[in-house]
Amino acid sequence: MTTSAAVDPTQHLVRLDAPFTDQKPGTSGLRKSSEQFEKPHYLESFIEAVFRTLPGVQGGTLVLGGDGRYGNRRAIDVILRMAAAHGLSKVIVATAGILSTPAASNLIRKRQAIGGIILSASHNPGGPDGDFGVKVNGANGGPTPASFTDAVYTCTQTLEQYSIVEAPATPVDVPGTHSIGAMQVEVIDGVDDFVQLMQKLFDFDQISELIRGDFPLAFDAMHAVTGPYANKLFEGLLGAPAGSVRNGIPLEDFGKGHPDPNLTYAHDLADLLLKGDDYRFGAACDGDGDRNMILGEHCFVNPSDSLAVLTANATLAPAYAGGLAGVARSMPTSSAVDVVAKELGINCFETPTGWKFFGNLLDAGEITLCGEESFGTGSNHVREKDGLWAVLFWLQILAERRCSVSEIMRQHWARFGRHYYSRHDYEAVASDAAHGLYDRLEGMLPGLIGQSFAGRSVSGADNFSYTDPIDQSVTQGQGLRILLEDGSRVVVRLSGTGTKGATIRVYLESYVPSSGDLNQNPQIALADMIQGINALAEIKERTGMDKPTVIT
Ligand code: G1P
Ligand code: ZN
Repeated sequence: MTTSAAVDPTQHLVRLDAPFTDQKPGTSGLRKSSEQFEKPHYLESFIEAVFRTLPGVQGGTLVLGGDGRYGNRRAIDVILRMAAAHGLSKVIVATAGILSTPAASNLIRKRQAIGGIILSASHNPGGPDGDFGVKVNGANGGPTPASFTDAVYTCTQTLEQYSIVEAPATPVDVPGTHSIGAMQVEVIDGVDDFVQLMQKLFDFDQISELIRGDFPLAFDAMHAVTGPYANKLFEGLLGAPAGSVRNGIPLEDFGKGHPDPNLTYAHDLADLLLKGDDYRFGAACDGDGDRNMILGEHCFVNPSDSLAVLTANATLAPAYAGGLAGVARSMPTSSAVDVVAKELGINCFETPTGWKFFGNLLDAGEITLCGEESFGTGSNHVREKDGLWAVLFWLQILAERRCSVSEIMRQHWARFGRHYYSRHDYEAVASDAAHGLYDRLEGMLPGLIGQSFAGRSVSGADNFSYTDPIDQSVTQGQGLRILLEDGSRVVVRLSGTGTKGATIRVYLESYVPSSGDLNQNPQIALADMIQGINALAEIKERTGMDKPTVIT
């Protein structure tokens, strides 16, 4: 299909009555309620600032797509018309606007684009009453750094007008080429390039042999972006029976679900694997396809452990057969991967929360794999975390080792010891109460050193700060840490991605060597630390909540 619209860009400047000042600095994009995004000039003002700030806009190529949530279509239309007004030479759009975050990262790199705009609020609910978001990725395919976001923010504060051309909506439902004035719009299938990349990284014949045998699996796309990808990969190329992919059609409101693959929000899948006996393997991805949850029969794989297992077994996948350059994890992620890295003799970096901190290490070739406790795992194949990649990697390991997921975990702990780990989230806490709790705890940290906490002595307590080993940039205030003499630790952070009130995250970790008790329930293994931090930080009193909203 081909269409072309003649336009005169110079005639479409929209003047703003007041500058737009709502962009929260320090996040890699804008994430707000759908209602907010529908306010006149809101999306447009942010995009104007992005186009004024992003290098290479004149004559450049941009990648555009999203997770299919409510607002996706309108945003694509607005961004295309604004791109035409700003002199881009080409925008590559995914059919029906469906493009996962890792697939966007791949396309940016493959097509040498100046960057990409990904329309998603990730795992936050969608729909008219849900959230919408705009993420901007740079030319390396990864989230733009804080310096970019700050520059966008500065730009929005004095914005007086934006440019947009008038043109009929570009049809994006089928592949084709169109033009809006001098700008080309190339509509491509957003699934194809990603699937090709996966076929290069993994041995599809070997995985297919596993899946075609007695290996029933369930993948939950949560009515979000990974449905079409998973259908093609699992049921199409790898031969899983029809119905293996559940909730595979992207819906604007994700079927009223919360597309976050954890035990709370993906409980249907969790019940199938943890309570039933019909499936050997289960997995789910989030709204925009960058997160993953891995389950085996009666076995939940903690994301921190998942990173450690992938690292220990990396050479079983063709892409990593030659070994790993190094690994990295975010600070609150458990140290399970550190122990593996030590044994492999490779570097393990500890970065602040957020994928953007892995970018420099990946670009410099310092690391091959990286991950976060928040169900994010990835490698140097793109510059985002990648949910389906992690699922395929696990299937590759299972196809080679021919044992159950729980056997893999048992053998891993028997070799490296076990890091008992849990995250307690207190969501939608009144902002004052959350900040009050955090500030008070921060003030108490220096006095804790040498004191007893959960029956152990506190060996260190600080607010985590990071110096990037590549560009020496310093990022401070990344979370309160209470470190105990035996290597156990508690971390307390305030979420940077929530949109309602504040979210307090409490991360708990305790190490048991391979000679210890490896088969406890994490909540029981960590009980004294849970009690310790609840009392110290007065969580119940200050939040008014008896228990966390989500326990992972
Ligand atoms: C959360 C996760 C973090 C992840 C981010 C984006 O951020 O904790 O690991 O990088 O979402 O997916 P938070 O809400 O904790 O700031
Ligand atoms: Zn996401």
